[in-house]
Amino acid sequence: MKTTRLLRHSFTALVLATFASGVFAQTQSSEAQKGFEPQVGQAGKDVIWVPTSQALVDAMMKLGKVTAKDTLYDLGSGDGRTVITAAKMGVRAYGIEFNPNMVELSKQNAAKAGVSERATFMKADLFETDFSQANVITMFLLSSINLKLRPKILDLKPGTRIVSNTFTMDNWKEDESVNVTEGCSTYCTAYFWVVPAKVGGNWSLGKSELALKQEFQVVSGTLTTDGKPLPVTGRLRGEQITFLAGGAQYEARVNGNAMEGTRKGSGSSGSFSATRK
Ligand SMILES: C[S@@+](CC[C@H](N)C(=O)[O-])C[C@H]1O[C@@H](n2cnc3c(N)ncnc32)[C@H](O)[C@@H]1O
Repeated sequence: MKTTRLLRHSFTALVLATFASGVFAQTQSSEAQKGFEPQVGQAGKDVIWVPTSQALVDAMMKLGKVTAKDTLYDLGSGDGRTVITAAKMGVRAYGIEFNPNMVELSKQNAAKAGVSERATFMKADLFETDFSQANVITMFLLSSINLKLRPKILDLKPGTRIVSNTFTMDNWKEDESVNVTEGCSTYCTAYFWVVPAKVGGNWSLGKSELALKQEFQVVSGTLTTDGKPLPVTGRLRGEQITFLAGGAQYEARVNGNAMEGTRKGSGSSGSFSATRK
């Protein structure tokens, strides 16, 4: 398994989008729940069902740094494999799936795996469901759907981890990615983001003024002391901010309109705090 950045899957998007919506409404009602056999490529409300290979599900758990302390939501949970894998790790895991037959199948699969207590499946539309309790979100949807969900995702608690099979978030570049070469033949790349804290604006930092601009996890701006501005460049990882200004490195934890941390290099080192005006 090696970490890499891959080419976009425009062909994949086309295939996954095919048969979504219209066709789904017709087939869903006629499917008898009893004896239901899922078919790879079957219609879905906004995207068809194609399962993530177990090798990539496992890699997604690793990439998302998932532990038993997490609450995970899989958006469009298919046959439940991602939720069940997480539940086996002790995670409280939830699947949101529009197709009722897939929800039933997922519940049966969770029971077989002995994880029904920690694996919950909801028959719901992912666009209309509150997943703000999650601190990990997994998905295998489409780039267009990811983009539609992006504002809601960016409003989640800073530090929430997002893992997507194959599909990206447009100009919100991933923090990490992984490509699985063993046990996976198609859709073998996962992308990872950490929801960044919102830091844009003007901050008082001791006798200096820190003006920050933010584009997703990338920050820039100026640190002005005694009327002398220095350029600032930095990054966010959830609520952790790191930036360079005037040869010094600042590392801090952002908590709403306050940040506290340490400053190293170029003259005095030590702790610092800042508040947003
Ligand atoms: C590509 S499959 C991924 C399944 C599973 N997450 C996995 O990785 O194996 C996408 C799933 O999303 C479901 N889906 C499509 N539109 C949906 C919507 N609006 N709300 C909830 N589920 C939806 C489909 O029925 C399908 O099971």
